[in-house]
Formats: sequence, structure tokens, C-alpha cells
Amino acid sequence: MVYHEENRLSPPRHPLIDRYGRTHTSLRISVTDRCNIRCTYCMPELDPIFFSRSELLTFEEITRISTLLVNHCGVEDIRITGGEPLVRKDLHVLIERLSAIRNLKDLSLTTNGLLLKNHAHNLMKAGLKRINISLDTLSEEVFKNLTRRTGLKNTLEGIESAIETGFKNIKLNALAIRGITEKEICDLIEYASSKGLLIRFIEYMPLDSDKNWKRGDVLNGDEILKTLAHHFGVVRKIPRPDASQPAEDFLVGDHKVGIIRSVTKPFCDQCNRMRITADGAIRNCLFSNKEVSFKTPMREGATDHELLELFATCISTKEKSHGISNEAFQPPDRPMYAIGG
Ligand code: 5AD
Ligand code: SF4
Repeated sequence: MVYHEENRLSPPRHPLIDRYGRTHTSLRISVTDRCNIRCTYCMPELDPIFFSRSELLTFEEITRISTLLVNHCGVEDIRITGGEPLVRKDLHVLIERLSAIRNLKDLSLTTNGLLLKNHAHNLMKAGLKRINISLDTLSEEVFKNLTRRTGLKNTLEGIESAIETGFKNIKLNALAIRGITEKEICDLIEYASSKGLLIRFIEYMPLDSDKNWKRGDVLNGDEILKTLAHHFGVVRKIPRPDASQPAEDFLVGDHKVGIIRSVTKPFCDQCNRMRITADGAIRNCLFSNKEVSFKTPMREGATDHELLELFATCISTKEKSHGISNEAFQPPDRPMYAIGG
């Protein structure tokens, strides 16, 4: 059976609702597991194993599945992730196709920014609406230790060019890692503020390939708030505009700062996200150990209806919470770069 585009003034015919009543309207699509740097909290230092070209979903396949999910399941926003999405050749072509999906409300990208200078203009022209850029440090030396590569200068230039190109609502993401982030919280906030951008600190999660993550390595939200109060005085919480937003926003002095307490205050109850990996599997959670591949059925001629069934099945088995706080917690088999941030 082939579906036709629905009039989205009516509710979607196949909303993706799980056993706990969570409706999945947000889709993250990883377009590659490759990356031009090697962050310690994500990639192994040596010999990461990447998917071969033929294993990756093509732009046609990504566009087909996205169109179905938007038009029939009520997906409203799509975020493109990696690895580093800008290492995927001609990414702007995919952006152009996705931005043409009539009922899609938001289309965004998460990038490490190193290649952004060369792409910002084309991405905007293709219809990309928003960009999040990872920025963990302002020191080239710390950048080198964290990413095992050089390139902070390129990231900073990438941020500048995203601003100059005219992207609005650019967000910076900084990992909160004990021993590293404390020293730079205030400088990062002042940098972001000077550029008119929002910076969000994200608690370090157990998604590193080397499986070195320890609870004690997480610089937690409470500690960040203490540092903010110490440096900037009163810290005021800003009410969340949208319950599914993972970041809590705070006003410190003249600056707005976000904290994502992914480890110490999980937001699973409000989760509306699902993910597609670069090799065509559906994941209902970052931390899931089960996933459903749709690439092979798609390549073997599955109908739209059969593909949507796979999504419905995957969402129906979503767990209540990721359980990082439980002592028995096991990190997922796939590391971050192969899941998509
Ligand atoms: N914990 C938390 N966030 C992570 N990211 C990558 N690895 C981790 C981790 N272990 C984030 C990066 C980037 C996005 C792609 O995912 O900071 O912002
Ligand atoms: Fe690359 Fe992002 Fe992983 Fe860093 S966190 S190695 S930038 S994919």
C-alpha cells in the first residue's frame, strides 16, 4: 500500500505513541559515523570501525523514510547528526530534499563546526533552519587533549560564519566533564554571550567507545550551578517553554545558560525523540540495546505501510527510562559516533 500526503490539519493517522503515552514527534538522523576529530568521550583513539559506503542510507532512502514519518506519524522536527554530519558529501542536497517536506516544522544540524565555514551558506540556502555547534573549550591545548586533533580555530571560525550567514538561535554545546569544564565555565559563558549565543552544558554520559566513563567524571548540574552562583551572583531559573526540551535554562547576570542534566536528572518522562542510525536502524533511545533495522526491508521492496510498522514496533518497546543511575546500568553496544548525538 502506498500512502498519499495527508492534510496535516487533521491529526496524524499513525502517531508513534509508546506504552507510557509518549508521542514521538522528533527525529534525529545520523548521516555518517565518520568524524574529523576523535573526542575522548565518544571515539576510540585508534582504528574506529566505520560503516562502508554501501551500508549507509542513501539520500533517497533518508528522504523517503522522513517524508513518511512527517506525513503519517506526525514527526515535526528533524535534526541531522553524525559522527560529524559535514563530512558526508553534498549534505546540502539532503537538506534541500528534507526542507521540501511540506509539513516539517523544523530542520536542524548538530556539528563540531570544523568544516562549517565552507558550508554555512549552502546549508542555509538549502533550507536548514538551525545549527548547534559543539564547543567544549576555548583553549587549543585542551581541545587537543579532548579531541586528539587540532582545529579549535576552525570551530571558532565556523561559529563566526554561522552567525554571519544569518542563522538564528544558534546553540553551543559544551560537555561537562570533571577536571576539564570547571575551569572554563565562566569563559565559555562570556564567549557565548559576547556572540549573542546560548551555551548549554551537557552532563557527560556513558557513551564513550573506550568505556572509560565513571560516575565521578560527570561534572553535574548542581556543581555547575554552584560555580555560576559564585561567579555571577543570583541564578534564576527560566520556566521551560516546552516540556520536552532537555535543557533547563538559567539567567546568571546578563547571561542565559542551559544545563542538560542527562545523568543526574533524566528527562525520559517527557522524551519525544527517536533516532535513525547512518546504517538504517531505528533506535527508540540513545541508550537502547535493541534496535530495528529498516534498511534491508526497504532495499528488498517493503511498502510504506510495512516500513511504518517497523517504526511502530520499535517505539512500542521503548523503556521507561535509561537507568544510568542504577548500579546495574550497562552502556549501549554502539558508541555515540555510531548512534548520532
Ligand atoms: N556524553 C554527552 N554528550 C556527548 N556528545 C558526544 N559524546 C557525548 C557523551 N559521552 C555530544 C557532543 C555533541 C553531540 C554530537 O553529542 O557534545 O554536542
Ligand atoms: Fe566527532 Fe562528535 Fe564524536 Fe567528537 S563527539 S568525535 S565531534 S562525533
